[in-house]
Amino acid sequence: MIKRIAGLVGGWLLGNLLFSPSDLTAHRNSAMNLECGNCHIEGKATKVIIKGFPSQFQPGRSYTITVEVQSKVLSVSESKGGFAAQVVGGTLKIKDDKNTQLLHGYLTHTQEGNTKRKWVFEWVAPQDAEEAVLTVMGVAANGDYSPYGDGVAVEALSAKKAVTKAKK
Ligand code: HEC
Repeated sequence: MIKRIAGLVGGWLLGNLLFSPSDLTAHRNSAMNLECGNCHIEGKATKVIIKGFPSQFQPGRSYTITVEVQSKVLSVSESKGGFAAQVVGGTLKIKDDKNTQLLHGYLTHTQEGNTKRKWVFEWVAPQDAEEAVLTVMGVAANGDYSPYGDGVAVEALSAKKAVTKAKK
């Protein structure tokens, strides 16, 4: 019984941490972490497509990355989708500050960017790492402003430092 109450209190505390009011009210204009699936209950088939992230990178070079959430989930309002991207190795940079922003180490959608399912940003490859990994979590929103019935998907790509210098 005591264990059960402890479990309930623990769950309540965790719930409160996860659902702090500021997160909820501000949520359509950003996403705070990569755990979209913690709250968004999966709807129809959804996937995240990452383009422009090379399998081999030149140290220090900038790459333009496109992220698209493809989904059968249709939206009933202007709220169509969102994402959060994080990189290990190198840095993510904003290219389109109307639709994307950097927040707490993640690159995510803005309120305007919430009306899209495709976003563009930049990745500057590391000077001092042999490998980099880009992880993108995406949500295809059904536009009802709830976490239910949305599509959730994740994609991660890794890149290795190019062995020989490209001759161009
Ligand atoms: C702590 C729980 C939680 C997490 C984690 C979370 N969301 Fe949400 N999300 C919500 C809630 C609650 C709503 C509904 C309230 C709102 O629209 O502001 C919502 C709404 C949305 C909407 C609008 C939905 C619609 O149908 O109109 C988008 C887009 C969205 N979230 C994207 C994301 C993405 C992308 C991630 C992960 C990178 C994420 N969310 C992670 C709780 C969460």
